[in-house]
Amino acid sequence: MWNDTAVTKLLGIDYPVFQGPFGGNLSSVDLVATISNAGGLGGYGAYSNTPQEIIEIDRQIKSATNKGYNLNLWVSDTDVPNADGTITDEYFQQTAALFKPYFDEAGLPLPEKPAPFHSRFENQLQLVLDLRPKVFSYMFGTLSPEILEECRRRGIITAGAATTPDEAIALEATGTDMIIASGFEAGGHRPSFLASAESSTMGSFVLLQLIREKVKVPVIAAGGIATGKGIAAALTLGADAVQIGTAFLACDESGAPPSHREMLFSDHAKYTSLTRAFTGRLGRGISNRITKALQDTAGQFLPFPLQTQLMSPLRKASLEKEKWDMVFFWGGQIAPLLKHRKAGELMRALVEETNTFYSSTTKN
Ligand SMILES: Cc1cc2nc3c(=O)[nH]c(=O)nc-3n(C[C@H](O)[C@H](O)[C@H](O)COP(=O)(O)O)c2cc1C
Repeated sequence: MWNDTAVTKLLGIDYPVFQGPFGGNLSSVDLVATISNAGGLGGYGAYSNTPQEIIEIDRQIKSATNKGYNLNLWVSDTDVPNADGTITDEYFQQTAALFKPYFDEAGLPLPEKPAPFHSRFENQLQLVLDLRPKVFSYMFGTLSPEILEECRRRGIITAGAATTPDEAIALEATGTDMIIASGFEAGGHRPSFLASAESSTMGSFVLLQLIREKVKVPVIAAGGIATGKGIAAALTLGADAVQIGTAFLACDESGAPPSHREMLFSDHAKYTSLTRAFTGRLGRGISNRITKALQDTAGQFLPFPLQTQLMSPLRKASLEKEKWDMVFFWGGQIAPLLKHRKAGELMRALVEETNTFYSSTTKN
């Protein structure tokens, strides 16, 4: 049976299908509960949430499902090099000048230099330990063996994201229970932490096979999977589960606004880019005017998350004025294959297609 894998056994779930967590308020309780109730593993990306919000989100998830779910954090949530959490005025002005034409066009003043940012991870981590989700997944780094041991003691199963075989080896060496192999087709940020994200752009199926060779723990394939055939391909190449993001993000239950979901079903989704222009970290979304104009200016953006703060008023105004070519809509390369707008239907279709695929190959 295709759904009898190391991961379904470890987590006690029916199908080896994870709904990828989305940071930046694009996750939703409804989506998590729908997927966990349907036998997969729902996931909530909480890196951008305050501790109070995380407590409330967790409470709502627990009242919407009695099944296990995944809470997700970013181990590293700032690239600001200075201890005071800020950057020089000169650095800010240089980057802001790049975006002035777009702010002018939107009739907006250039924002002030962003307020200092200090990591929130330690507080968030303590909460996750207290809330004891079935799975705690994390990206942008490794956790110490002590923290991973504490998770194990509390019955929390951990999953760390890798974009290279070296990162998978580093995650396994610290004691992570499962590895998420994140191919460069995926929507959202590249979770690289050993080498630069730009030099860690391996495709999902190469990455999966190389990581499978290097680690003993279960491997979850992420990036470019949205169909039963995609699931079967990943399982054939050694995955113990898949993590699907873009296809679930496009469903009505996700936290994405309607314009974002429509974009994922539109012809625009045929073209995606990896860029640092919107947050300061490399991430994939639907190509737009800004990604095209600024593709050669990688070094000039503000460090994460200050670039997000710089771009926030432009994003808000562009969404309000429906200037879609100035909004960066996150999404992966698989978007043109999307069909389903309801998460429950998508989950049912994934299971049926995978069943059909395996029963036809067994007969032949
Ligand atoms: C909008 C968006 C936000 C994401 N945010 C996170 C996140 O906060 N943490 C994380 O581990 N993965 C995040 N991901 C990655 C997904 O969980 C998943 O691994 C990925 O989308 C799978 O590739 P696919 O988009 O090709 O299906 C995000 C993906 C998207 C599209």
